[in-house]
Amino acid sequence: MEDNKDILYDWHEAKVLLSDILPELMDSQSEVPNNKIDNPLPKEQEEVIKNIEFKEEPRDPKEVIEQMHDLIYQYSTKQNHPKFFSFIPLALSPVSVVGDVINSIHSPFGGSHVLSEGVAIAQKWLINWMGENIGYPVKELGGLFVSGGSMANLTASVIARNEKLKDEEIPKGTVYISDQTHSSVAKGFHIMGVPLVNIKKIETDELFRMKPDVLREEMRKDKENGFIPFLIVGTAGTTNTGTIDPLEDLADIAQEFDAWLHVDGAYGATGVLSSYKDLYKGIERSDSVSWDGHKWLFQSYGCAAIICKDRLAMTRTFNANPEYLSDVQADDSKVNFWDIGIELTSPARGMRLWYTLQRVGLKAMREAIDTGFESAKTFEKLFREEDYFEIVSPAMLSCINVRYYNEKYSEEELNEINNKLSAMASERNKAIYYTTELRGKKVLRFCAIHPQLKKEDIKEVVEELKADIEKLNLN
Ligand SMILES: Cc1ncc(COP(=O)(O)O)c(C=O)c1O
Repeated sequence: MEDNKDILYDWHEAKVLLSDILPELMDSQSEVPNNKIDNPLPKEQEEVIKNIEFKEEPRDPKEVIEQMHDLIYQYSTKQNHPKFFSFIPLALSPVSVVGDVINSIHSPFGGSHVLSEGVAIAQKWLINWMGENIGYPVKELGGLFVSGGSMANLTASVIARNEKLKDEEIPKGTVYISDQTHSSVAKGFHIMGVPLVNIKKIETDELFRMKPDVLREEMRKDKENGFIPFLIVGTAGTTNTGTIDPLEDLADIAQEFDAWLHVDGAYGATGVLSSYKDLYKGIERSDSVSWDGHKWLFQSYGCAAIICKDRLAMTRTFNANPEYLSDVQADDSKVNFWDIGIELTSPARGMRLWYTLQRVGLKAMREAIDTGFESAKTFEKLFREEDYFEIVSPAMLSCINVRYYNEKYSEEELNEINNKLSAMASERNKAIYYTTELRGKKVLRFCAIHPQLKKEDIKEVVEELKADIEKLNLN
């Protein structure tokens, strides 16, 4: 009889199981566009999950896997559905899944050069390529893969503090974001211990871009009052509207005040690979950029990069050199990621993107990314055909915000109506667009990054929204 301990290392069983279940799993993902998007967990089902006990004895693997599929994974919003337009959608590509599975099975230690040389070089070369596309000098840049934009923003902010402030100056250090900056940036500041009063939120213009004059004036005043402005965070692709901040102006101001300029490109940096790369002028003058693979590069979750113009700034910030790692320190030409970021042990998060770029090729990737820009424009064109649609922010990157508007309703009523329109779509469950709030207005937000979204799909979504408006007898 098999010793239960042997199950843990039964590679043969694992191989047979994976070959058995993979076809069905892949089929279920490829069917996502034809199925319901939102799959909420019924209350009674919650109890069923909680009651799956961890027992002393092993269980039949097929039975457990079936439970995982039918009782657990099934109840999730399919963010990778082409008509899921909320947050920044997932747009998961099967190519990324292949890269991810291969990397999971190899499970290389992603934190160092010495333990996984091939993977370290492949990832470093991928970071170099991404950095070159930002416009950083390849010989000087550095970077690493992290879990997401939040971690990338935190990493960059810590580097900025290390480079620009002496320890005793830390309480006086001030940081600058806009009223549209992603919440992860301020969360990172909180983690670092930046006091709330030292976080300055700069207002934005009609296209939700940080106002450079207001920024400059605020920094001047702070300096006059004995503070040390050390970090500006601009955004290339705000989450709400897809806005790119005036990066040239921000770079000028950062230079004037000797502050660090970080660009949060978690969502939008991918556009530097597109036919619309001119929109990003000035990004090359930044000191660091966050760039998520699990957004507009069609990767599975947990694939993001922080790229820094000066790799030595990363080393100065994070190299801890503990004695038990002394045998595995890499020489200068080889990168140990543990020396330039927060984590020591980490998976090789970039390998799935490496595989994707190799397999698909840059031309097709560019075309896939361009589709996002074009989808937002198609939405805008269709909305402009009806007087009752107010474009609250035009197509920027792959985003557009619109609301139903009629002067006979108060702002409060309009907010309710737009909430209702979003809820009607969710109920239909064929396209999901939640609301966001822009300058106090509830708006319907569409972020359309999925390359499989076709013009006809967009037409259908807008027609259904128009039919909802008819149903509510609003006009
Ligand atoms: C502009 C921006 N920055 C940062 C983040 C946070 O990224 P993550 O969820 O990968 O941590 C997001 C997420 O949507 C974002 O849109």
